[in-house]
Amino acid sequence: MSVALIPPPLSLYVHLPWCVRKCPYCDFNSHEAKGPLPFDEYVDALIRDLDQDLPLVWGRSVHSVFFGGGTPSLFPADQIDRFLQAASARLRFAPGCEITLETNPGTAEHGRFDGYRAAGVNRLSFGIQSFDDGCLKRLGRIHDSAQAQAAVKLAQDAGLDNLNLDLMYALPGQDLDMALADLERALALQPAHISHYQLTLEPNTVFFARPPQGLPDQDAAWDIQEACQARLAQAGYGHYEVSAYAKPGRQCAHNLGYWRYGDYLGLGAGAHGKITSGGEQTILRRWKVKHPTRYLASAGTAASIGGDELIAPQRRPFEYMLNLLRLREGFALRDFQVRTGVPAAHIAPTLEQAAERGWLQVTDRQVTPTALGLRFANDVMELFLDA
Ligand SMILES: C[S@@+](CC[C@H](N)C(=O)[O-])C[C@H]1O[C@@H](n2cnc3c(N)ncnc32)[C@H](O)[C@@H]1O
Ligand code: SF4
Repeated sequence: MSVALIPPPLSLYVHLPWCVRKCPYCDFNSHEAKGPLPFDEYVDALIRDLDQDLPLVWGRSVHSVFFGGGTPSLFPADQIDRFLQAASARLRFAPGCEITLETNPGTAEHGRFDGYRAAGVNRLSFGIQSFDDGCLKRLGRIHDSAQAQAAVKLAQDAGLDNLNLDLMYALPGQDLDMALADLERALALQPAHISHYQLTLEPNTVFFARPPQGLPDQDAAWDIQEACQARLAQAGYGHYEVSAYAKPGRQCAHNLGYWRYGDYLGLGAGAHGKITSGGEQTILRRWKVKHPTRYLASAGTAASIGGDELIAPQRRPFEYMLNLLRLREGFALRDFQVRTGVPAAHIAPTLEQAAERGWLQVTDRQVTPTALGLRFANDVMELFLDA
C-alpha cells in the first residue's frame, strides 16, 4: 500500500563555482579563478539550464533562491540581476521569497552590496570562519578579521539586515577561549543568523592529505560546541538545526526547505536538484556536470545532465530522515507520508526502536529528536537505512 506524494515548496539553488583561492579544507565544487571569469557566458548558461529544467516544475512558485559556491560574491551585481530577472520572467516568485547570496568577506567591494540589494538579494551569508588572524591564516583564507568586520558593516549600511555569519570551530591552534572570543565578535555584529560548523577533514582536500598541527580532539571540540551553544542561547539565538542558530523568525527558509525534504532545482556546474512530481508520483534527483568548462559548453542540452535518478519508495524513508533528523522541531507523521509516499506504519517499528534508545520522542502524530538523538544524529539516521 502507498499514500499519495504531494509536492513540497520549491526552491532554486544556483551554483557559482569560482573562488579567488581554493581553501585547504574545502571539498565544495569550487575552482581557483585563473584570469578573468566568464560572467556573461555563465549567466547565459544558467538561463539555458533553467529553460531545460522548467518542464519539471511548470506552474509551481519559488519560495527561496540561494546563490552558493564557490564565491558568488565574485559575480558583479548586474549579472545577478540578469539571472534573477530571467528567473522571475519564467517562474512565479512567492511573496517574501528569500534570496540569499554567499559572500566571501575578501571580495566585498564598496557599492556592490547596494547592487545586490537592488537586484533582489535580501539575505547575505558571509564566510567569516574566524575573527582570529592566526586562525584565518592557517585556514588559508584571503581575508583578515578587520576585512570581515568591515564587509559585514558595509552590507548593513546598504540596508541588508538579514545576514548569516558562517563560523567554523575546532580550528588548528584554537582553544575554548579563542572559540568563544570568535563567537563574541560575531555576536557584536548582531547578525540575524549564525552557522557554527565544526571543521571536518574532508577527503580530497589538502587538510585531509596533510592534517594541520594543533587540531583540538573530539572532547575539546565537544566542549567548544556546548559552550558556544549556551552563549548563543543566552544571546537569543534559537538552535534549530545541528549547526544553525537564528534570532526568532530568522531561520534560513532555503536550508529549512532542504531539511524538510523540500524540492529544488539545481542550476549551475555540479548543482543537484530534487523534484517531486504529483502527476507521475515520482521523486527525481538530477545533477549537472561538475566542471565549469564542460558545464559552460553543454548547459541547456542533455550533455549537461550529469545524471537523473528516480528515488525508489524503499529509499525515501532514509533520505527523509537524513534531512529531518537534523531539525530540532522534528516532523509530523502526516508530512512524512505525503513527502515520501510511504505509509507511516512502515517506519513504526524503527521509530519504536529509536524511542527505546532514548533518541526520539514519538507520539501518534509527531516525531521529535531528543538531545541525545541530536548528538548521535548519524546513528539515528542509519537505523532507517533498512527501514
Ligand atoms: C560553500 S562555503 C561558502 C562560503 C564562501 N565560499 C566562503 O568560504 O567564504 C559554506 C561554508 O561551509 C563551511 N565549510 C566549508 N568547508 C568546511 C569544512 N571542511 N568543515 C566545516 N565547515 C566547512 C564554511 O563555514 C563555509 O563558509
Ligand atoms: S572560499 Fe569558500 S567555497 Fe571557496 S574554496 Fe574557500 S571555503 Fe571553499
